[in-house]
Amino acid sequence: LNELIAEGVRGRYILVRSDLNVPLDGSTVTDDGRIKASLPVLKKLSDAGARVLVTAHLGRPKGAPEDKYSLKPAVDRLAELADFKVQLAADTVGGSAKEHAAALQDGEVLVLENVRFDARETSKDDAERGAFADELVALTGSNGAYVDDAFGAVHRKHASVYDVATRLPSYLGDLVHTEVEVLRKLTTDTQRPYVVVLGGSKVSDKLAVIDNLLGKADTILVGGGMLFTFLAAAGHKVAGSLLEEDQIPVVQDYLKRAADAGTSFVIPTDVVVASRFAADAEHEVVKADAIEESAFGASGIGLDIGPESASAFAAQIEGAKTVFWNGPMGVFEFEAFASGTRAIAQALTDTVAFTVVGGGDSAAAVRTLGFEDSQFGHISTGGGASLEYLEGKELPGLSVLDR
Ligand code: 3PG
Repeated sequence: LNELIAEGVRGRYILVRSDLNVPLDGSTVTDDGRIKASLPVLKKLSDAGARVLVTAHLGRPKGAPEDKYSLKPAVDRLAELADFKVQLAADTVGGSAKEHAAALQDGEVLVLENVRFDARETSKDDAERGAFADELVALTGSNGAYVDDAFGAVHRKHASVYDVATRLPSYLGDLVHTEVEVLRKLTTDTQRPYVVVLGGSKVSDKLAVIDNLLGKADTILVGGGMLFTFLAAAGHKVAGSLLEEDQIPVVQDYLKRAADAGTSFVIPTDVVVASRFAADAEHEVVKADAIEESAFGASGIGLDIGPESASAFAAQIEGAKTVFWNGPMGVFEFEAFASGTRAIAQALTDTVAFTVVGGGDSAAAVRTLGFEDSQFGHISTGGGASLEYLEGKELPGLSVLDR
C-alpha cells in the first residue's frame, strides 16, 4: 500500500476490498472488530487524498438484494469511527453507485452496497465474474487502482477479490500484510505440540479443512456444530442436533487416517442438550453417547460441549506450545450455552503457548464474553481464510496479487 501512496493517489479512484462481514443483531453491529481492522487503510488513503470506493459483502445473500444483508449497519458504524466522510451507495454498480462515485471528493469514502447482491460476484463462470469486475473497475475511471485489504475473503475466487485484481494495478492492504506475517509463524517452524480447536457453524467448510490438517496438527479438538457429525460417525445418536449426514463417511475416513498421520482427535464426551433453540430453553448435560436419553428425547438439540469435555480441551491447550482456535464451541450468544466457548477462551489466555484466534465468530465470541484482544497472541479477522492459509492452500486473493 505504501508503494501506491508514494506513487500518488490524490484525486484517483482507489477500489478497496474490505471485510465488513460483521455479526448483527437486527441493525446493531454486535462486534465491530472487522470494521476497526479495516479503518487504518481507508484512513491512509483518505489522508492521501484518494477517492475511495469500498467493496464488501455481508452474509450469504442469494445473488439479489435483501434488506437483512444490507451493509448499512456496518457502514453506519464505520462512519461513526472514521474522521473522514463515509457514504453508502444504494446499489453496487447501478445508478446510485455511479452517481455517488461521480460526486465523490478527494479524501471521501463511498462503500458500494453488498457485492453479493449481484449473483455474478460469486459465479463459477469466469466470464460472468469478469463482467461484474468490469463494471466495478469502470467506477474507477481511467487512473484507478485496487487494494485488497479483506483478509477474511482472500480464499474466495470472487469478482471483487480476484477478478478486479487482474484488471487494475493492484496492491496488498496493510491488514492482509499483517495477517499473513502472523499466520506464517504457524506454518514455518511451528512450536509443538500444535493444537487446533475447531468449532462454529459452517460445518462442511470446517470438515473440509481437516483433511489438510491431518499430519500438520498434533491434536484437533472438535466442538461446535460439527461435533455431532463426529459423534454420528462414531455410531452415536444425536437426536435433533445439527448433523450433516452425507459427511459421516468423510469423518469416518478422517478418524481412520488420523493415527497414521500422527494427529489425534479429541471429541467431546459430554454435551449440553436443550429442548429447543432458544436462550431460555430447558437444558441438561448428558454423556455424548446418550444424547437421545436426555429429558427431551429425540427432539433434544445439542447446543454446547459439556463441562467434562471443556476440561479435557483445556488440559490439551495447557500442554500446547502453539494453539489455533477457529469457531465457537456452542451457541455462545445464549448465556446458557456459552460455557464451552468461555472455557476455551480462558484456556487460551492461561496457556504459555502462542495463541491465534481465527474467524469473525470466534473473535466476536471472545469479545462478547469479556476477554480483551491483548490476552491472545493474535486475533485474525479471517475465519475460513486463516484456516485455508494454515492448510497451505493457494488463496486466490493473494496469488492474483503475486502474479
Ligand atoms: C468470513 O466471515 O469468514 C468472511 O467474511 C468470508 O465470508 P464467507 O465465508 O461467507 O465467504
